[in-house]
Amino acid sequence: MAKTIATINLKGGVGKTTITAGLAEFMSLEFGQRVLLIDLDAQINLTTMMISEDHWLELNKQGLTSATIFRDAVDGTSNFDLEASIQRGVSPVKRVTGVDLLPSSLDLIELQEEISALRVADRNSTKPVELLRDAVAPVMPYYDYVLIDCPPNLGPITLNGLAMADGYVIPTIPDVLSTYGIPQIQTHIAKFGKELGRELFELGLVITKYKSNSAVHRTTVRNLRRDPNVPHVLPEYLAESNQIAASAEFHPYSTLKVKYGNAGQFDQMRAITQNILTEAQAKL
Ligand SMILES: Nc1ncnc2c1ncn2[C@@H]1O[C@H](COP(=O)(O)OP(=O)(O)O)[C@@H](O)[C@H]1O
Ligand SMILES: [Mg+2]
Repeated sequence: MAKTIATINLKGGVGKTTITAGLAEFMSLEFGQRVLLIDLDAQINLTTMMISEDHWLELNKQGLTSATIFRDAVDGTSNFDLEASIQRGVSPVKRVTGVDLLPSSLDLIELQEEISALRVADRNSTKPVELLRDAVAPVMPYYDYVLIDCPPNLGPITLNGLAMADGYVIPTIPDVLSTYGIPQIQTHIAKFGKELGRELFELGLVITKYKSNSAVHRTTVRNLRRDPNVPHVLPEYLAESNQIAASAEFHPYSTLKVKYGNAGQFDQMRAITQNILTEAQAKL
């Protein structure tokens, strides 16, 4: 049965989606894992990193996205088609063949409010946060890892991601504004785990967009490592690099080295994946 890992941070722009996409591609090609990506962010960044925008437009028109799960719950319909929604063998990297994707939709923005209302109406039930888990359950046996890219908040869509997760990672830029609020995420998730009656394991903090020549970055990392309130900081960092920024664009790449860059980026992303697999094998 798949181990499920959510990627979360309350800040946008800290590399959550980049890390989630990289983990999936490296888990698949470098470590031979079968991976399902679930995009829960209305910004659809993970989706459009993995499939073309035209492909997404077509799927969205047909309601073949994660939003339909929540739309069904709100409207009392059952339109979600799991098999048709999961896109097989995604990733613009030709050699990556083991990554599937449940795409997201801009419609998640308004659904966020409507699912909140369901939660209020059904206060004593965890059902409104178990919609995603129930919808995806039939395909779980086919994967080694399910990676969920959550929106930058702790709203009901994110809670649906956490409710099916075994553990979570927090990507962060090591600066003051990006790391602000990390202890709150941790506390909130621990409390939510209690509501669910199980533990949600912290796999660690992933340092992203690291600038080794920045005094602020170096000091922040040192402080995070010492802070007893912060999840374990993973030993490998992803440095800031123009090629990683460019890799967000969907166009064909022959290999992971071509996509991510071979001036340290490939090795960093591979090492981060290895760190997370080690944590997941130990804790989940
Ligand atoms: N290591 C990196 N070096 C340079 N740019 C990066 C790096 N990681 C992410 N980016 C870029 O920063 C922006 C935000 O990253 P993204 O992964 O979308 O963050 P989030 O999902 O947290 O909003 C994107 O344009 C992305 O391409
Ligand atoms: Mg994102």
